Amino acid sequence: MMADHSELPAEEQLYPVPAHLLDASQCPKPWVSSLEQYKEMHRQSIENPDEFFGKEATELLSWTTPFHKVHHGGLQHGDIAWFLGGQLNASYNCVDRHAMSNPDKIAIIYEADEPNQSENITYGELLRRVCQLAGALRARGIRKGDTVAIYMPMIPEAVVALLACTRIGALHSVVFAGFSAEALRDRVQDASSRVVLTADQGKRGGKTIETKRIVDDALKSCPLVETVLVAQRTGAQVPMKEGRDFWLADECSKQPGYIDPEPMHSEDPMFLLYTSGSTGQPKGVMHTTAGYLLGAAMTVKYVFDYHPGDIFACMADVGWITGHTYIVYGPLSLGATSVLFESIPTYPTPARYWEMIAKHKITQFYTAPTAIRALRRLGDDWTKGHDLSSLRILGTVGEPINPEAWHWYNDIGQGKCAVVDTYWQTETGSHIITPLPGAIATKPGSATVPFFGIDLAILDPVTGKELEGNNVTGVLVVKRDWPSIARTIYGNHQRFLETYLKPYHGYYFTGDGATRDKDGYIWIRGRVDDVINVSGHRLSTAEIESALIMHHAVAETAVIGANDDVTGQCIHAFVCVKPGISIIPGHASTLDLSKELVLQVRKVIGPFAAPKKIYLVEDLPKTRSGKLMRRILRKIVAGESDSLGDISTLADPSVVEVLIQRVAKS
Ligand code: WTA
Repeated sequence: MMADHSELPAEEQLYPVPAHLLDASQCPKPWVSSLEQYKEMHRQSIENPDEFFGKEATELLSWTTPFHKVHHGGLQHGDIAWFLGGQLNASYNCVDRHAMSNPDKIAIIYEADEPNQSENITYGELLRRVCQLAGALRARGIRKGDTVAIYMPMIPEAVVALLACTRIGALHSVVFAGFSAEALRDRVQDASSRVVLTADQGKRGGKTIETKRIVDDALKSCPLVETVLVAQRTGAQVPMKEGRDFWLADECSKQPGYIDPEPMHSEDPMFLLYTSGSTGQPKGVMHTTAGYLLGAAMTVKYVFDYHPGDIFACMADVGWITGHTYIVYGPLSLGATSVLFESIPTYPTPARYWEMIAKHKITQFYTAPTAIRALRRLGDDWTKGHDLSSLRILGTVGEPINPEAWHWYNDIGQGKCAVVDTYWQTETGSHIITPLPGAIATKPGSATVPFFGIDLAILDPVTGKELEGNNVTGVLVVKRDWPSIARTIYGNHQRFLETYLKPYHGYYFTGDGATRDKDGYIWIRGRVDDVINVSGHRLSTAEIESALIMHHAVAETAVIGANDDVTGQCIHAFVCVKPGISIIPGHASTLDLSKELVLQVRKVIGPFAAPKKIYLVEDLPKTRSGKLMRRILRKIVAGESDSLGDISTLADPSVVEVLIQRVAKS
């Protein structure tokens, strides 16, 4: 029976490694199977990183030229380099070497939107498809170092597309298919992509998404784009622009089923992935080949305790870093079978996850707290009656998991599974704080301990001094670089330095606050910058504000993150209208304006960024020097108007009372 400490404060609850995982008659022996072993390996990785990572890189990756130096540079100057002199190719590591030894092994289980349409792709077939698309890209003039934009639904071609790019040394820049045409346009332009890979339509939760039409809209102002290759998901009739648009399958069928992988240096760029920061302008985070791939492979091995024969399932979208690392590069680099899930957790019913686990005998299952909370709300009945005995590891990612959701998820594992709450970021490439299933006792809501090579510190946000010892809260930083950390922001290294390395000089600044508790466990407290996390989607308040300000009625806006039971945070927007525009709460014209503003955000960023609440107001709280006091807005929305603090510094303190009334009425 599992221990139940759920009545204790989360910090006091300690769930030991499930005995089932350590029972050799039931489960493969975990790669790291005791706390002592973790401590020893972590110590080596920090004290002797060259030896530690040199060994891992040699064991886990295949090189065409061995590296001659493990590490150079660091956080001080932003000149990070790993595995110097080495050459390798990511697609070779993820496809060829497994296709050669085991061509019939299933690489991808495509679990389509409709549950009865799943499809298996073997490593042998994956290699042919990757080579053919790589050839088609070359035929369109794509060479090593070029960028290729990918805007695709969750179909096998998306995985093939990533691997085809890395095969020829092109940098893929995947844009999440929930982004709007305008957001896609900005990302295609910023990366100077000449080719876009997409699909006719998408399918998600029974709904059809007009993927190609969004691409067409975006490309109206992308003069550099010469070629669009269109995969057929639904076979619908979509407009094809003569000379620019081609069916992906036709172009691939002209290409041979094998081409050699391009040899890449360790530090050759591998891909870009745009993410949001404190400013309105999204940044193209750039990862390089060897370090990224090693981080992906090592974390699937150690954090998900991957063993041959396991069926690995990450529910993220391939458009986010979690999909890159834990659907594609991590599992495939180890030769795993990886599940590609096109649908949503509630389609056709809220039993979808559990049916899928039983159907494919999934061993590692990885999802986000927002999905767990949404399913928990729908009741336990949906979880019953499914054979979940194949599961060993349940992972979560994207935002802090509240203890109630953690317990519910833990119960899915019936005391036999480890829950790994993995903390990381687009910029970190792979997990940096996480339990290891066979070694680390867990606490609900804590990401627990640093991964190998991660030397953490918590700083006083004001003085920048390290807070030593336990029971401290501050900003979370890392003291030295590790292989899979991003190397730069595409085309703007200065911004990379300023965002991550300069705020606390010599440290990597995560942007998150954290507590180290009395036992040394790490609890992530959420962002300390102007980034909001809605259902695990990272959004910047500045980005949403600049979308709203484009509307003709808007004079000024302030966007904040409010708490939400399901999505973690949600977006509340205070919108100050231009003089002459009357706002009458509840009146039709005012409601229409609110709707227009929500549409505006959907159009500029995408539906997932839509504000949940819009407050139309005449004025915003500002200091006499004109600084907007978001803190006050956050407190009002959180219902903490009685603890606003000193508002006498405001230019017009009476604004506050008006806002309290307005929020209360909405
Ligand atoms: C948040 C997603 C708490 C955090 C992989 C981080 C988390 C941001 C966790 C990165 C976790 C991610 N617990 N917070 N286990 N995982 N976050 O770049 O605020 O989309 O900075 O990468 O998500 O989001 P990103």
